[in-house]
Amino acid sequence: MTSINEMSKKILVTNALPYANNSIHIGHLVGYIQADIWVRYQKMKERDCLYLCASDSHGTPIMLSAEAIGLEPEALAEQYTKEHSKDFQDFLIEFDNYHSTHTTENETLVGEIFNQLNKSGHIEKKIIEQSYDKRQEIFLPDRYVKGICPQCSTEDQYGDNCEKCGATYKPTDLINPISVLSGETPILKKSEHYFMKLSHFEDMLKKWIPTIDMNDAVKGKLNEWFSMGLKDWDISRDDPYFGFKIPGEDKKYFYVWLDAPIGYLASLKNLASKSNISYEDYFSENADCHLVHFIGKDIIYFHALFWPAVLEGAGLKKPDAIYVNGFLTVNGKKMSKSRGTFIKARTYLNHSKPEYLRYYYAYKTNSGIDDFDLDTNDFEKRVNSDLVGKWINIASRSAKFINKYFENRISQSLDNPELIKTFQEASEDISSLYEKREFGQAMRKIMLLADQANQYLEKEKPWVLIKDELNYEKVHAVCSTAINLFFILMVYLKPVVPNIAKEAEQFLNLESQCWNDINKTILSHKINDYPALLTRIKKEDLELIIKDSI
Ligand code: 2FM
Ligand code: ZN
Repeated sequence: MTSINEMSKKILVTNALPYANNSIHIGHLVGYIQADIWVRYQKMKERDCLYLCASDSHGTPIMLSAEAIGLEPEALAEQYTKEHSKDFQDFLIEFDNYHSTHTTENETLVGEIFNQLNKSGHIEKKIIEQSYDKRQEIFLPDRYVKGICPQCSTEDQYGDNCEKCGATYKPTDLINPISVLSGETPILKKSEHYFMKLSHFEDMLKKWIPTIDMNDAVKGKLNEWFSMGLKDWDISRDDPYFGFKIPGEDKKYFYVWLDAPIGYLASLKNLASKSNISYEDYFSENADCHLVHFIGKDIIYFHALFWPAVLEGAGLKKPDAIYVNGFLTVNGKKMSKSRGTFIKARTYLNHSKPEYLRYYYAYKTNSGIDDFDLDTNDFEKRVNSDLVGKWINIASRSAKFINKYFENRISQSLDNPELIKTFQEASEDISSLYEKREFGQAMRKIMLLADQANQYLEKEKPWVLIKDELNYEKVHAVCSTAINLFFILMVYLKPVVPNIAKEAEQFLNLESQCWNDINKTILSHKINDYPALLTRIKKEDLELIIKDSI
């Protein structure tokens, strides 16, 4: 496994593509914020890193949602693409490109990849029987059939798995199945489908998986799937469907899960067409590029088995890392509308700052795949105590003296250079934690440093010293030391709280800082008046978020 440290390489990062028929909620944001922090960190290390995403615009649910409100699916997907882009932007998730899977770039790539798979003998046609809703005249995806679990007899279970006992099965295995669309019993209907021979790739996948950067628990899960045998994958769907038509077919389409990950490449193609980056530099068989996918734990099979098999079959480069996040729980429970914890990104933004949530998510993040709890009381306490009480406090306690008594100028020498050195020496540790996505540990280390800075101020007490003019020089040196400490922590926190960092840079009268800038000391430098960089989270605002989510 190549570590990025050793690499001169380009890095290409993707996030799972959100479906364009629903709003982004705070559960989705876990993965996007984690990836954004990681990418911002890479960029601060001055690495050549691109961060791509797009709308996942195809599939039956999008077609049906559009139909229900009298829109064309393209129009619905476009509306959601705009909404999602704005949500991401306002959460400071900064993609280098945001595209859609319903685009000519994607259609061309899907056609090329399919032809290549077909030519190499990896596609087979088979007639299969599937659940069909006669009244609605549509084949039913698994989630559109409900019935009694064949294993534990729990009622009202979806056609793919039982929420009670965890059994997985086909919709045709359900007892007393009904169509979610019409309430009628589905019939079985035959149709010819295109299958990708996943079994052709089993040996390749078994050798490839140990070579990539992926959590061991995920690798263990993949081994379980290997032991159950890899089944051929149905990559076609019958009309009516919203997707790309299969070449040479009139009423058959590619399954959304074939064209969705190809959308990563289409987003890159699109970016290349409007900038000076070259598609081939990032994505060709021999590209010197580290390809990283950030995904949720529900789509491991698609990204770690189907997708690399598709890439291999098409003679393309496979991923180097797959980073998986767990699901979000709120106050220890699954998000729920009745508890007001099914919180849309926009509802949160209407009442609160993105950076509070970014910090809390960072604080809770490790490289594992366990579920991830947002405890609203802890959220409030943690952000107020760490960001405001520890970090921002260093600047607000010392800047006012520099502003008022020293004409906004930092002193020529420092009171405590050893402490500055300690802060600078933490860089390697913190950097390696960011690299490994151990953001929680990184935040804890940074806050321990913030504690040291506050203890230093407590000890020196510039607010007492300033009462005697003879101490002015000392106060100047102490507060200038504190401003330098604040500055170093600002650089360490910048991937997590980019806008506050930007405002802090303006206050410090500095250009945008990168990681290695922690090694410089700010001396004899004119800063600006201290602005209130961040205020405390208010309980009432969190209550409003919950109220608006019910
Ligand atoms: O599960 C989902 O939400 C999918 N829309 C993710 C697609 S990721 C990629 F393959 F496009
Ligand atoms: Zn069951």
